[in-house]
Amino acid sequence: MGPARDTLTAMAEVLRVDASKPDARAILRAADVLRSGGLVAFPTETVYGLGGLALNEASLARIFAAKGRPLTHPLIAHVLDMAQAQTLTTLVTPSAKRLAAAFWPGPLTLVCDRAEHVPALLTGGSPSVAIRAPAHPIARALLAAVAEPIAAPSANRYQSISPTAAVHVQNALGNMVDLILDGGSCSSGIESTVVDVRSDPAQILRPGPLSLSVLQGVWSNIEPGATAAEQGHARPSPGMDARHYAPRASLVVVDSALAAIELAKHYLMRDNERVALLLYGHHADAMAHAVRTMPERAEDYARLLYATLHELDDAKMDLVIVQAVPHTDEWEGVRDRLHRASAPISSLD
Ligand code: TXA
Ligand code: MG
Repeated sequence: MGPARDTLTAMAEVLRVDASKPDARAILRAADVLRSGGLVAFPTETVYGLGGLALNEASLARIFAAKGRPLTHPLIAHVLDMAQAQTLTTLVTPSAKRLAAAFWPGPLTLVCDRAEHVPALLTGGSPSVAIRAPAHPIARALLAAVAEPIAAPSANRYQSISPTAAVHVQNALGNMVDLILDGGSCSSGIESTVVDVRSDPAQILRPGPLSLSVLQGVWSNIEPGATAAEQGHARPSPGMDARHYAPRASLVVVDSALAAIELAKHYLMRDNERVALLLYGHHADAMAHAVRTMPERAEDYARLLYATLHELDDAKMDLVIVQAVPHTDEWEGVRDRLHRASAPISSLD
């Protein structure tokens, strides 16, 4: 397969790959596609990534075009390990060393000083570069096969929900990518925690599967950073628009299950809108076109969140009423994504 696709309407080839034992031939094929400048969507433990060679400007340009993402929003470079990360940065700070030693491979992205040879296109022109060593066996096999860093934003169109299954990628970007490695569902379900390790204290730029307290257990000098609600128009991390990760349906977060159920009743009586309820814990009196009972553990909730929103979009819901999740540290990643998904259009960049 060549780098230039014949037409933009050709659909991507999909290869099923056993996540526990990635097939060597499928991985070599994917590596060939990458090396010839093509795009490969692949599973990571967080969400599916849209991969291209991180040090190849033509590949990077194709990623931005496929996503419809502004060039100022930097991409994450995926690496196999710290040795490969060091080729992308001029400085591995003590905090970066400790955090990587504890959480790599895993759902942690470190923002470091960028080495000079790293394309400005990768970093959105910023002097920093975001680096992550994913844990997923398919991602790792692919990284080992190409033997160079892979740039991979989440494999969705700009400002829509990230994919946690291959079918989500197919639906959103099927005609923009050359190959999709289908390794089943992602285990974390929300994007990696992003930490700026250049500053002291280090700062969380995007909450994720690794909570503040878990990170602090390894490196205590780390701060939460602004929440999505506090950020408003200011964007400490480029690409962190308030309205990111949004479903097509309008999404509103309300404080209690009772209020959510009442609001749903109100809409059901008033309009002929299709209304969905996203509750955690079972509520027998819940009434809507779709009622989803979400798990009560943050980790389990996160794993199902995007898949559930994708499913409600596919079911053509107009409004998704979400019961707010607890205000505790372990829920911060989920709370952040719900807030972004519910941001009013007026907060668009
Ligand atoms: O879990 C993940 O991180 C997934 C999987 C595929 O690895 N990737 C992902 O990439 O979510 P993306 O491009 O959708 O999100 C990248 C985020 C940006 O929103 C931005 O917050 C941050 O990483 N980022 C990237 N480069 C940065 C930089 N140089 N400085 C600050 N933040 C940066
Ligand atoms: Mg994304």
